[in-house]
Amino acid sequence: MIISSEEACARLQDEFVVAVPTETVYGLAGRYDSIAACETIYSIKNRPRDNPLIVHIGSIEQLPLLTHCVTETHKKLIDAFWPGPLTLLFDALDSLPKTVTAQQKMVAIRMPNHPTFLEILKKTGPLVAPSANLSGRPSPTRPSHIEHDFGALFPVLDGGQCVCGLESTILSIGSSESCHILREGSVPRGEIEKIVPVKESPISCVVPGAKYKHYAPKTPLFPLGNTPVECVIGFKERRYRAQHVFVLGDSTEPEEVAKSLYSILRALDHCQFGKAYVDMDFPTEGLFSTIYERLSRALSCQ
Ligand code: TXA
Ligand code: MG
Repeated sequence: MIISSEEACARLQDEFVVAVPTETVYGLAGRYDSIAACETIYSIKNRPRDNPLIVHIGSIEQLPLLTHCVTETHKKLIDAFWPGPLTLLFDALDSLPKTVTAQQKMVAIRMPNHPTFLEILKKTGPLVAPSANLSGRPSPTRPSHIEHDFGALFPVLDGGQCVCGLESTILSIGSSESCHILREGSVPRGEIEKIVPVKESPISCVVPGAKYKHYAPKTPLFPLGNTPVECVIGFKERRYRAQHVFVLGDSTEPEEVAKSLYSILRALDHCQFGKAYVDMDFPTEGLFSTIYERLSRALSCQ
């Protein structure tokens, strides 16, 4: 059910949960200081309780409500990327509800680059917003994806198709002037390295959410080999020996591919093929590294 921005604000202030657009993917928003709203989010997403929520802010003045520890490295990254698809970890204030951080000492924060959502955040104050999908399903990049997961009556603020199409990049900041990438995302590693050094992360250095199955269509998905197949997810300029091809975009246009990726994984399930194959033969540079990671996690044979 599409609702207006005013209604979204009113519902959020009353501690209800609403789906909102961001530049990355749609989020399931609720007040950060409402245990009821956070509980609703965990329960309707069927989200494991040890998987913390990202807090979104509408202005830098809202940061002290969540953390008092903003280092020089944080400041550089904030100046370079906020508002935008970069989430940073900070020491959480003790007063922050443990439902937000899932008992972790750190809180993940970002300022989204979406005019309507920013306006709402300025009125409501910080909002938690995990991606607005059922846990394990591809993130939603259009209102119809949310309707599919949560039903036609679920309140959605329509912001059209998300411009990035992939979730934010998540960084933890070390004690020296460096950072680790905990989740690849819409800001490629090379862009971050222009601002601060990125240290190689130990295998254990990932977001808690990474241990759960993600981004997967229900249709079993395999990497494309050399044999003819019924259904392929592939690139615009390539020819495939397949009866049906879902086109991600041009293999030299990562932004185009990122934007369509989750829509295509969802569209695949509507066609009810027994299985499908994806063309994984592309250089994994820049944003294509994130695309490769998401596709790898969507495969049935990981
Ligand atoms: O682009 C995005 O980041 C979207 C939009 C809606 O902002 N949000 C999003 O949220 O992708 P979600 O919940 O689907 O993914 C957030 C990830 C999870 O894997 C979670 O484990 C991690 O962020 N995370 C959240 N809080 C954390 C914390 N305090 N420490 C470490 N990881 C955290
Ligand atoms: Mg998610």
